[in-house]
Amino acid sequence: MLKDNFKLLLLLLAALLCQIVHCQQSCPSSDWIENGAFCYLLVNGTTGRSFDEARTDCQGRANGADLLWISTDSELSWFEDYQARAWNIKKNWAQCTDCDRRVEAAWIGAYRDDLGIFRWIRDSQAVEINLNWYFGQPKDTPLDYILADDTGSSIRYRTDTREANRKFWHFCKVQHRDPTTPTPMPTTTLPPYLGPCPTRYWTEQGDSCYLLVKGESGRSVDEAEADCSARSSKAGLLWIETADEAAWCEERDRRVKDVAHLQVPVQRKHSHDSAVYVDSAVNQLRHHLRAYND
Ligand SMILES: *[C@@H]1O[C@H](CO)[C@@H](O)[C@H](O)[C@H]1NC(C)=O
Repeated sequence: MLKDNFKLLLLLLAALLCQIVHCQQSCPSSDWIENGAFCYLLVNGTTGRSFDEARTDCQGRANGADLLWISTDSELSWFEDYQARAWNIKKNWAQCTDCDRRVEAAWIGAYRDDLGIFRWIRDSQAVEINLNWYFGQPKDTPLDYILADDTGSSIRYRTDTREANRKFWHFCKVQHRDPTTPTPMPTTTLPPYLGPCPTRYWTEQGDSCYLLVKGESGRSVDEAEADCSARSSKAGLLWIETADEAAWCEERDRRVKDVAHLQVPVQRKHSHDSAVYVDSAVNQLRHHLRAYND
């Protein structure tokens, strides 16, 4: 009596431990093959099942299990990998006593609805992967239920009916744990905020401030550079880092017509590409200065 109680206690402890360390995160039994968050089972055996019987069978094997559904192309290629999975449907077909003799195949959980759309039986979602149909497939209604056909070297798909005498093996699938959440993008550390624009005459755009220095006289490039630096320690003659920024500047150019830009970064971006642009900015500036001098 005491011994029985002790056994019971051990079982309870084991169950409790399972709750804590997620024993349920493995497949329902060793027959299932694990792939990521899911487990897959080929129900082969000596008897086949109709589509409806197959579905009932899957649902009875584990909580949340159903006839195979496939969500992504990579899952599909995993399932169809002829070398790795060794479903051996064709090879073992003779062992099934009541399966169709002409087609070595197993049900998957897909069907065609009244509108001709293929759907997963599990949740009626449309099939969004590319099923590789067997030659001449899919056949017309009422052959609306999908089989994975083992050709001996590949998996191809075909349709059949849900009539009770149409018996084949079948594939079940169950999710046994949460899909691994993709690792979050590393948060990019922004460069420090360098403060608002130096004065209200600067135009703020994105991270930067821009100023067109006009006046009665122009400046040489060196003078212009010195002028920019004098206005703010972070300012310099216009440099452009991105295509978007260039487009913005050019758009402004067109509107203001005679523009020489100075830019001060509010948040200074890395400027390793800026050398390429400095020349054109300088040329632009020269051009504008000339325009002023004329
Ligand atoms: C069913 O599949 C399992 C593993 O996939 C295999 O070991 C077994 O021989 C198969 N049985 C039949 C009857 O094909």
